[in-house]
Amino acid sequence: MSLMMTDEIFKQLRDFIYEKSGIFIPDTKKYFVENRLGRRVQEKSLKGYEDYLYVIKYGSDKNELVKLFDLITTNETFFFREPQQFDVLRGELLSRIVAENTKAGRRDIKVWSAASSTGEEPYTIAMLFQEKSEISGFRKEIFASDLSESVLSSAKVGVYGSYAVRNVPEAYLKKYFSNSSQQYALSSAIKSMVRFLKVNLIEERDVRAIRGMDLVFCRNVLIYFDEKAKQKAVSQLYDALRPGGYLFIGTSESLHNVTRAFRPVVINKVIIYQKG
Ligand SMILES: C[S@@+](CC[C@H](N)C(=O)[O-])C[C@H]1O[C@@H](n2cnc3c(N)ncnc32)[C@H](O)[C@@H]1O
Repeated sequence: MSLMMTDEIFKQLRDFIYEKSGIFIPDTKKYFVENRLGRRVQEKSLKGYEDYLYVIKYGSDKNELVKLFDLITTNETFFFREPQQFDVLRGELLSRIVAENTKAGRRDIKVWSAASSTGEEPYTIAMLFQEKSEISGFRKEIFASDLSESVLSSAKVGVYGSYAVRNVPEAYLKKYFSNSSQQYALSSAIKSMVRFLKVNLIEERDVRAIRGMDLVFCRNVLIYFDEKAKQKAVSQLYDALRPGGYLFIGTSESLHNVTRAFRPVVINKVIIYQKG
């Protein structure tokens, strides 16, 4: 059975998704919503998208909203994505953070991976931290969050296919993964370094508990937001950082027209945004 989505229902669905997640779907991407939601409409034996809209807007089952988030988010990620940023982290940036925290009398390092998807980003950070003798005496807290519950469940399991680990250095693969039939299971030592939680970046009440971060990674998610939602999310990241804390966004993303609250710091051609 093929389902038709009218322009009017598309607009209402798109506006609802935007209001709840900040994800903005332009008119040209009606096919995207049809593709992602079509099967769900059939699974629920609904007559069409209009009924689905009614269920997510007025239905009593809050799980359908969870399912909607799972369906409309794009969760592409892999270990050591945008490796220049990780090179800067394990080099000068970590040394700076250690010096700043030591000066402030702190022996901990707090990092938040704010749109962690299936966990490759926070686990990459965990492996780098594990390798860094300079911070062996520091308490390392790595928080990782996402809007989609299904990616968080899979992150907690920590088993990956060969595509996800393709950039992992051979030595790390041997040390931190066990491999059988094209599946790479992350060691419990690395898994236990990361705490996963569900956080919607545009919901103030979700982010309120996250404070005093030395470093935030918020990569490849702002691209799905419009300017207003970007501003909202970025101001929450700002509040989550300690004074002088650092923010990485994706290398193809920019804070132009979003905020001037951060000072761009350039290390080895990589831009890091520092809270003023
Ligand atoms: C493309 S992935 C990026 C993963 C990782 N940061 C990276 O760069 O490889 C984008 C993630 O953002 C999440 N996301 C989308 N909207 C969100 C929101 N409002 N709050 C939190 N996470 C969101 C999606 O569920 C998805 O897992």
